[in-house]
Amino acid sequence: MIKREIVEDILNTARIEEVVGDFVRLTKRGVNYVGTCPFHNEKTPSFVVSSVKGMFKCFGCGVGGDSVKFIMEHEKYSYLEALRYLANKYNIELHEEKQTPAQIKELNEKETLYTISAYAKDCFSTNLRETEEGKSLGLTYFKERGFSIKTIEKFQLGYASQERDAFTKQALKKGYSIENLEKSGLTIVKENNYYIDRFQGRVIFPIHNFSGRVIGFGGRILSAIQTTHTAKYINSPETGIYHKSDVLYGLFVAKTAINKEDKCFLVEGYTDVISLYQTGIENVVASSGTSLTVGQIKLIRRLTKNITIIYDGDSAGIKAALRGISLILKEEMNVRVVLLPEGEDPDSFARKNTADECLTYIKEQEESFIQFKTKLLLKDVENDPIKKAQLINDIATDISLIKDLTMRSIFIQECSKLLNIAEDPLVKIVNKIRVKKLYDDARSRENEQPSAEEEKQTLLEATVLPIIPPINLPPQPLSLENVERVILSVLVNRGEKTVCICNKENEQENEFIIRLDQFIFDDLHNDNIIFENKLYRKFFDVYADVAEKQQKDIAAVLRRHENEEIRNLCMELEEIPLEASPAWGSDRIKSYIRYIDNDDSKLLEDVIRTLQMLKLIILKRIRKKKQEELKQPLSEDDELILLYEIKQLDEKIAEIEKVLGVVCRQL
Ligand code: CTP
Ligand code: MN
Repeated sequence: MIKREIVEDILNTARIEEVVGDFVRLTKRGVNYVGTCPFHNEKTPSFVVSSVKGMFKCFGCGVGGDSVKFIMEHEKYSYLEALRYLANKYNIELHEEKQTPAQIKELNEKETLYTISAYAKDCFSTNLRETEEGKSLGLTYFKERGFSIKTIEKFQLGYASQERDAFTKQALKKGYSIENLEKSGLTIVKENNYYIDRFQGRVIFPIHNFSGRVIGFGGRILSAIQTTHTAKYINSPETGIYHKSDVLYGLFVAKTAINKEDKCFLVEGYTDVISLYQTGIENVVASSGTSLTVGQIKLIRRLTKNITIIYDGDSAGIKAALRGISLILKEEMNVRVVLLPEGEDPDSFARKNTADECLTYIKEQEESFIQFKTKLLLKDVENDPIKKAQLINDIATDISLIKDLTMRSIFIQECSKLLNIAEDPLVKIVNKIRVKKLYDDARSRENEQPSAEEEKQTLLEATVLPIIPPINLPPQPLSLENVERVILSVLVNRGEKTVCICNKENEQENEFIIRLDQFIFDDLHNDNIIFENKLYRKFFDVYADVAEKQQKDIAAVLRRHENEEIRNLCMELEEIPLEASPAWGSDRIKSYIRYIDNDDSKLLEDVIRTLQMLKLIILKRIRKKKQEELKQPLSEDDELILLYEIKQLDEKIAEIEKVLGVVCRQL
């Protein structure tokens, strides 16, 4: 057990922005930090971290809490595991009672595997540094490869003895059970209780998860030249904690640099990562010989959208690897590719060049993935019209995955030149694929019966409840101006109130306290929403200015503002009666927010919906504008896509109208 004082010590020491910052790219906004939520997929950041309060909160999916909660959620740790993680991060001694061999057995399976892996890592690294065999074989091998002691320590490299069961014997003596050692993949159990170590006479590369715990190993034979009967590398098998497809080698070391450089280099092997690191390029990870998976991309995507894949000049795997890359495009990553000179891999290249030379080479040579793929495949099809048609389709399919219109057009231009076909037909093919996909997706969604939970979720996302007409009047048409006005009147009349946002989850209640005006600022800011009405926009800015200078009586200042328009508007806004919508009686809408003084909870829900409303309307305007702009020069297909998107927004709005009895579709 961990003593209460120590728990408090951990909570006081852990800085929420640092804890979260290890996993999420945060940018400072006012006194808070914002980023994209790691717990659900989103494009615009609605994940807020408050250093002052020591809390995080996602306004998109609702999850929130303190540092411990974040680590529990993010790493899927128990409360105790999360405390251990934070204690370790901040070098706080836990004074947990020493574990006896009997207690070790009782630890839950996953924790046991982590413990065994950490233990094995220590054994291997002790072997390397302290045993005669380790020094003469392992250390010598690493030194010959040019790895410094510092690098060896950073990556916690090690050595596994040639003796067939050296590690297993040691671990059994320490109290680990043979069952668990087998589960960890480090021991192989043969017939008649005959044990052997998986790794024998190899140098060891421990593999870490995102937060730095050892979850598996790679082991390399010592000879430079591979003999026919042993594999050059052996890796841990899939275990309770090691899932090859969700791991990127080196990510734990590289994550800060990836975040800082806003770029990630992707290489193939362990030694590529290490050599690049040693020359001073730290934002590198390896897919460890497999083609990329969605899980791996998601790991990178938390840190950056920019990824450059570095291939060996003569890598046979390039074409196979290319197949996986459509995945990256779908995840809206900017993918570039660079080919190293003939005969070089990142490891050798990094040893021959300085960091600056490497980076210059990469900068000059890297090209967009689509351009790279087109050029590469074009070599095979030169004089074969059927193959060429297939290639065009293939490339068009890749381009169609790119969501951003501008990027798509740029790639279309590039590829039309490379493929030597006119832009127009290429546009047509790309758009055909897009439209088909949109409709296919829509159809498959229609066929799926949404679960009750999903339905609730969509409602939550889509519901907006704007200005409320008195109950007996027919629903009133809304204008954007009206919506903006209501938001301002909420600022003026209730902005200084503190709201308590409550979120129930797994029986646990989390609360997040924020001033209502700050909440509105954050919400609009996060989605880059600016008021359309010029006066309202100005008023909003003036309010924000005053709020920055003083905490209280903001309306009083605005009422006496030097600008007459501001003065008048303030007084008008104060006149608007704010009442909660009668629709809140309906239990179709899940309530997840409440005021400190509970009477106002419904009103706050209205505010949230109003903000959502504003966003929906603006989104639709943007689409419409785009549609008008595109009408002339672009193809029918493009228009079709926009029409489809507008239709989707309309459907969302219609759904809200049904629930709330307002009319806003003419906007
Ligand atoms: N790999 C593997 N099993 C193998 C061969 C390769 O798991 N039998 C993985 C390893 O992660 C390796 C990566 O694929 O790092 C790239 O393989 P390769 O290019 O052959 O190895 P290098 O990284 O170049 O290793 P070295 O320089 O030590 O030969
Ligand atoms: Mn190599």
